[in-house]
Amino acid sequence: MDWQDKGQATAAIRAGEPRSPQGEHSEALYLTSSFVFASAAQAADRFSGDEPGNVYGRYTNPTVATFEQRLALMEGTEAAVGTASGMSAILSTCMALLASGDHIIASRSIFGTTTVLFSKYLQKFGVEVTFVDLTDLDQWQAAVTPKTRMLFAETPSNPLNEVADMRALSGIAHKADAWLAIDNCFCTPALQKPVDFGADLIIHSATKFIDGQGRVLGGAVCGSQELVNEVVGFLRSAGPTMSAFNAWVFLKGLETLKLRMQAHCDNAAALAHWLLEQPAVERVHYCGLPDHPGHALAREQQTGFGGVLSFVVKGGQRSAWQVLDATEFLSITANLGDAKTTITHPATTTHARLSDEDKVRAGIEPGLIRVAVGLEDIEDIKIDLARGLNSL
Ligand SMILES: Cc1ncc(COP(=O)(O)O)c(C=O)c1O
Repeated sequence: MDWQDKGQATAAIRAGEPRSPQGEHSEALYLTSSFVFASAAQAADRFSGDEPGNVYGRYTNPTVATFEQRLALMEGTEAAVGTASGMSAILSTCMALLASGDHIIASRSIFGTTTVLFSKYLQKFGVEVTFVDLTDLDQWQAAVTPKTRMLFAETPSNPLNEVADMRALSGIAHKADAWLAIDNCFCTPALQKPVDFGADLIIHSATKFIDGQGRVLGGAVCGSQELVNEVVGFLRSAGPTMSAFNAWVFLKGLETLKLRMQAHCDNAAALAHWLLEQPAVERVHYCGLPDHPGHALAREQQTGFGGVLSFVVKGGQRSAWQVLDATEFLSITANLGDAKTTITHPATTTHARLSDEDKVRAGIEPGLIRVAVGLEDIEDIKIDLARGLNSL
C-alpha cells in the first residue's frame, strides 16, 4: 500500500506494519528485548545487514517502527526515528551530526533544558552556541560563522507564542551549508509541517500532544533518510531509544491527534478571546489573536494556532500565584499537551533559572501565566480561572 497517496489522518491510523498472523486489529505491542533467528546463517545475515529484520531492541522493534513510519508520513519526511524522550531526540541529533569546533545558532525562546544542553553540555565537547531573538532575522544572519552547522528553533515559542519565519531561517541555514532544525512539539504535524518551509530536521517531544494524555515520555527526529540514518547510528551506540510500550501508547495518540489538536485550538482561541475581556488581564499572548505580532506568519505556516497561550495579570507575581492557587481543577504543572488543562507561572518554575535581565529580555514578566489548554468544557475552564482573576 502506498500510504503517501493517502490523507494525513488515514496514514496516522493505518500506515505501517501489517497485522501479525494473530490478526489483531489494534497494533501489536512487541514487548521483547531481542529476536530469535531460524538458523545460525540467518543470525549472521541479520547481523551483517544482508537480510533485513529485527535483531535487538536497541536497534529496532516492530511497534516502534510502525510509530516511526506513521510520524514520517505525517511530517512529510523520508524517515523518522523514535527516541526515549524529547531531550534524547535533541541530544542524539547533535551528537550524530555535530563535531567539536562546530557552531549552533539557537533561538533564545527554546525550552530551558535545551538551552542547558546546548550551553553547558555541548560546549564541554567543543560545540559553540550563539543565542538570538527568534523573530529577528538580522540577528540570525549576523550570528552565522564559517563553522555554523545548525540553526535550531521552536515555533510557536513557549510561553509567548512568538512565530519563527521558517522559510527565511532555512534560507539563512542553507546559504551557510547548515541544517535548520525545528522543534515541532507545540504544533505537531497535525498543524504544521516544517519540511514544507525548508526545515531539514523536525524534532518532537512526543511526551506532549502526541501522547496527549500525559502518560509516557518519548521523542522523535524526522528528516531525510540520510540524516535520520546518522541519528539512528548514534542511538544504537548510545542507547536512548524509544521503548516498545511507549511507542504503542504514541500510536494510540496519533490516531486521534488531528481531532485533538483541532479541539485544543478551539478551546485555546475561545479562552484567549475571553481573557482579553477580563479587567485583571493586561495582555494575552496567543498567535491566533489578530494583533499578535506573529499572527500573519502563523496563518501562513500553521493550519491552527495551537493549544498553548499565556497572559499577564495586573499586580505581578502575587496576583499570578493568587490565580493559580484559586483554581479547583486546573493542574498546576509545567507539562503541556494534555487533555487536562495545565497552568504554570513561568517566572518561578520553567524560567526560574534565568537572570532578572534575561527574564525581561525573554518577556517572562512576574505576572505572566501560561495555560496549556486542555479538552475540558471551555466554560468550566473559564470559571476555574475567573475565581482567581475576579479576586484581583
Ligand atoms: C518544546 C519542547 N521541546 C522539548 C522538550 C523535552 O521533551 P521531553 O520532556 O520529552 O524530554 C519539551 C519538554 O517540556 C518541550 O516543551
